[in-house]
Amino acid sequence: MNFEKLIEEAYEAKKQSYAPYSGFHVGAALLALDGEIYRGCNIENAAYSPTNCAERTAFFKAVSEGKREFAAIAIVGDKREFLAPCGVCRQVMSEFCDAKQFKIILASSKTEYEIYTLEELLPQSFSKDNL
Ligand code: THU
Repeated sequence: MNFEKLIEEAYEAKKQSYAPYSGFHVGAALLALDGEIYRGCNIENAAYSPTNCAERTAFFKAVSEGKREFAAIAIVGDKREFLAPCGVCRQVMSEFCDAKQFKIILASSKTEYEIYTLEELLPQSFSKDNL
């Protein structure tokens, strides 16, 4: 997979970020196993807690359109540092993604990025197997 293309999509997604309260803009691009890419941005709210992260926006768009299998997600912010997904987003990823296969790409530019598996970012997760 060409991760640079996925990172570019994440930067495109960030342009739609609605973050008037934090001023912290985030973009994500989620690659489904069938090759489709779903963009997501963070969407804030005056009541704060309804805020949705970019990663979950991408997942919920994809899942609501019938996708259930995913290969990777690229995440970008405004800063030159890597932006790791929050715990809630990691948990949402764990619902649909294989912990050893799913790749999380943290990018600070189109060519500078780190790749983690979901297992690395969410070890010993709680899942449907625990129910
Ligand atoms: N945010 C994300 O979109 N993804 C993350 O992984 C971390 C945080 C958003 C939520 C909120 O709109 C802003 O960044 C500040 O927390």
